Amino acid sequence: MENINGKNDFFVIKALEDGVNVIGLTRGTDTRFHHSEKLDKNEVMIAQFTEHTSAVKVRGKSIIQTSHGEITND
Ligand code: TRP
Repeated sequence: MENINGKNDFFVIKALEDGVNVIGLTRGTDTRFHHSEKLDKNEVMIAQFTEHTSAVKVRGKSIIQTSHGEITND
């Protein structure tokens, strides 16, 4: 699979409370929400940046792991 500028990097999100939202934003000139995934406490989402997704917004208490490190947003 192609991998230009980490476009296909994976990231991991672990929800630390119910109702954490993982929102995918579109790649390209038009930046808009295209998908919202709701995680409950202790649910884990493993996802990639893709041709369609260049940014992700996480709302709610969670642990986020990326190739740049780990961060928690409590
Ligand atoms: N269909 C989307 C895509 O291929 C699915 C997706 C990938 C996604 N990574 C995401 C949705 C991150 C939300 C957040 O781009």
